[in-house]
Amino acid sequence: MAHDTPNRSTTALLQNLEHLNAQQLRRLLAEHLTRQKLGLYWESNAIERDAALNANVVLPRVVPQLGHAPAGCLHHRNLVIEGDNFDSLRLLRATHGGKVRVIYIDPPYNTGNKDWVYNDKFVGANDRWRHSQWLEFLYQRLTLARELLTSDGVILVSINDENRSRLELLMDEVFPGRRIGSFVWRSRSGGNDTKGAFHSTNHEHILIYGNPGFRFSGDEKSYSMYKYEEGNRLFRLSDLTKAHDFRERANTYYPIFDTKTQIYYPCNPQRVWAYASQYRVKEGQKIRGDTMEDMVAKNMVWFPPEQRVEVFESEAALRDAIARRDVPMSGSTPLLFDDMPDLLFWVGKKIGFGRPAFKRFKEGLKNENQPISSWLTPKQEAETAEEDSNMPIVGTTEEGSKELKEVMGDKAFPYPKPPSVIKALLAQATQPNDIVLDFFAGSGTTGQAVLELNAEDGGKRRFVLCSSTEATAKEPDKNLCRDVCAERIRRVITGYGGKPGYSLAQGGEFAYLQLDTLEAADLAFDTTPAHAATLLGLQHAGAVPVQAAQAELQTIAKGSDWLMLLCPSVTPQVLDALCALPAAQQVARLVVYAPRPKALAALLAERGIEAVTYSLADALLQSQAGRKGRSPEPVETSGAVTDSSVAAGGLTEGGVA
Ligand SMILES: C[S@@+](CC[C@H](N)C(=O)[O-])C[C@H]1O[C@@H](n2cnc3c(N)ncnc32)[C@H](O)[C@@H]1O
Repeated sequence: MAHDTPNRSTTALLQNLEHLNAQQLRRLLAEHLTRQKLGLYWESNAIERDAALNANVVLPRVVPQLGHAPAGCLHHRNLVIEGDNFDSLRLLRATHGGKVRVIYIDPPYNTGNKDWVYNDKFVGANDRWRHSQWLEFLYQRLTLARELLTSDGVILVSINDENRSRLELLMDEVFPGRRIGSFVWRSRSGGNDTKGAFHSTNHEHILIYGNPGFRFSGDEKSYSMYKYEEGNRLFRLSDLTKAHDFRERANTYYPIFDTKTQIYYPCNPQRVWAYASQYRVKEGQKIRGDTMEDMVAKNMVWFPPEQRVEVFESEAALRDAIARRDVPMSGSTPLLFDDMPDLLFWVGKKIGFGRPAFKRFKEGLKNENQPISSWLTPKQEAETAEEDSNMPIVGTTEEGSKELKEVMGDKAFPYPKPPSVIKALLAQATQPNDIVLDFFAGSGTTGQAVLELNAEDGGKRRFVLCSSTEATAKEPDKNLCRDVCAERIRRVITGYGGKPGYSLAQGGEFAYLQLDTLEAADLAFDTTPAHAATLLGLQHAGAVPVQAAQAELQTIAKGSDWLMLLCPSVTPQVLDALCALPAAQQVARLVVYAPRPKALAALLAERGIEAVTYSLADALLQSQAGRKGRSPEPVETSGAVTDSSVAAGGLTEGGVA
């Protein structure tokens, strides 16, 4: 995938390699040699990537005036995070590892516009490493994002046709064996391709990669088709024919006979029956599967209960009806006609004018109501979409721009996605209590889609939106995240243009987070209680307290018999307050994060308080190192629970106190 001239890329590469020590060089060579396989190869700089990942610590800072907390809101469950998503994802790795059900992203498409920020640098159109940098940029972020997904989680990625193949190979690399497929979305209604070979390049792809437990939830609406009942079993009608002419498939062109009513049904000459008849099988010929007679005997064929039934007593009467087209029809096709084979068979028979159908039972349903992959149908096409095709009807890019303009009043952001597209994806991919992450949130469409879906189905989905400021040297004050993403969500929540807003129960709130990056060595000095409370709150309760943590004792989470606290400094008053808590809050034990856990544990033990204490600095550091990092060591007071019992019974089931 090298797109550079040899000189330039080689010089740059050699310069980079000069900084590496022997061990790093060996690693790089080993990686290079073992990577020789079918797939994508780009000038990834593995060393730079590794070094950058855990270089410093990212801590969240809540900016209350930029968030939205209506009356009664004590905790924020929705987040808007400002900054380079590389840092946002590092924070989320610490707070949301294994908790996100759906990630939807619409990354910059590598079009050459200055539309993507590569760890604080905009990548220019003329940068000849553009493909490699783009791939490396996404690789870094996708590998972090991978750790956030639940075991049944899924990531959906929008991409244009041009970059699809590159991105798909990259996704294969990051999510090996996890490819589920892709949707095609018709993104435009008119022609736009003045330069290309097509009148219009009007589709985009949505690539889907899921963990093993992932299933689409299916479309509840399609269950409404199961309106026929037999005993306690519901079934729907499905076509019993296939698209072959009677001359091509003479064996499957025959009358179906309903043994119960003694009525015959003629076959459509343009669409023969889907099953062979045992009476049409030639000698020695074997039939795979059931014959039509088997299907009738198994009660799998539906015959219309109320219909016109005729008997033509003579050939003349039959031919007369044919001439008047007064015979069974399928659409505009007459099923009895003058030169059909075996015309006289129909004289004197009871002939049904209705059409038999296949009974598709709801029980034992497999993928019946799952989406089909050519899936996102624009509204203009809706009328021609098949009734039972499970195709959600969504908007186009034009509609995305129009909807955003309605909220923001002007053209605040180029080419936002229409909320209906993301809503349709989320309706299929989420359950009502899931967390939805978009780390290329741009104008915040995903947040609006989550709110709309919650209002439609009563769900309590939460959103995490990561958006960059898009500030550059030329526009240092630009803040897309604050002025478009967060502002849009605020207006959607409070209602705009005569549209109602969203209640707290529907998720009508969010915290606005900015990120502070600290050197690990400075952590003990520069971390504020508010940093720690926000981080621990997100980790253990999945929420940020609305009241900033100023107090010396801050409740982080509460379980059935435990209380988790942040205790940035231990004074005699704080110790007294701690000791009073188990009785006041009716819990058996305390879990406390404090600067000196051993000393605190000893003090609590002296007073007979059951507690597990953790080093605050270790907790902050460990969370940033992700799963591979060192776990903070718990210190227990006598008779206290063990570390593992806290993790199993306490921290993971933490609710907001
Ligand atoms: C294609 S747009 C997404 C639009 C979004 N789906 C919507 O409907 O508004 C891609 C977004 O990614 C943002 N972006 C690019 N590099 C980024 C980075 N490193 N961190 C965070 N956002 C970034 C751009 O600012 C842009 O807003």
